[in-house]
Amino acid sequence: MKKWRFDFRIWHWISATVILGLLGTVFLRKTFLSWRTNSELLTQKLSEINVEVTEAQAKVLAKAIRAPMWEWHIILGYALAALLLWRIILFFTQSGKENYQNLKTESIHKKMVKFGYLIIYTVLLFMAVSGLSIHFHEELGLSKGLVESLKELHELVYNAVLIFVPLHIMGVIIAEMRNDKGIISDMIHGGSRD
Ligand code: HEM
Ligand code: HEM
Repeated sequence: MKKWRFDFRIWHWISATVILGLLGTVFLRKTFLSWRTNSELLTQKLSEINVEVTEAQAKVLAKAIRAPMWEWHIILGYALAALLLWRIILFFTQSGKENYQNLKTESIHKKMVKFGYLIIYTVLLFMAVSGLSIHFHEELGLSKGLVESLKELHELVYNAVLIFVPLHIMGVIIAEMRNDKGIISDMIHGGSRD
């Protein structure tokens, strides 16, 4: 029997792509497509061709340039919510339970890694619920104050995702090089249960 069933592997790699994509949209929003930087650039470049715009107008333009990119944050956000529902279904399969069984015989380190996975699932669930609530705040009738707090929390908890991703990738690479040979290729071809 394979350690990681085909659907689990597909779930893992789609999740990895979606989460890297979400982090990519945040990166662009905070750097190349930042409205603060671009509104200053627009004001300066337009004034060079004798078009004067106010700060507010430059902000509208800069946000309009950012908007099509940010749509991807929402699209990938829906995908993340669907992936989390899928993960709950996968929990009823052997692969879905694999990391959370017979923990008594595991080393402290392995227990911590697995506990870390449970934490990241909680974090991702929070990101999905808060993100969807911010996006649908009107339909949900949420107050302005609550939406602001949710935005702050969503942005704060984002740091946990930012820390998990490189730590996880480094972790599995180190495990592959030391005493868990094949850990990465198992997540590609499925491996075997013992
Ligand atoms: C954003 C990127 C990624 C996320 C969010 C992510 C998430 C996860 C999660 C939550 C698990 C635990 C699965 C379970 O519940 O049993 C897992 C396992 C695993 N991931 Fe990733 N992953 C990512 C990228 C990668 C990459 C790039 C690699 C390979 C270099 C990788 C290799 C693995 C392996 C080998 C396991 C199984 C580890 C084990 O046997 O316990 N992941 N991943
Ligand atoms: C791994 C998951 C996610 C990460 C790391 C993430 C990260 C972030 C960050 C850092 C911000 C603040 C951007 C800024 O103001 O500079 C943000 C805003 C936002 N995110 Fe997410 N997010 C995730 C999932 C989601 C999901 C599932 C949704 C739901 C569709 C979503 C919807 C939103 C919305 C609506 C905003 C507010 C944008 C605004 O202020 O206009 N996010 N996200």
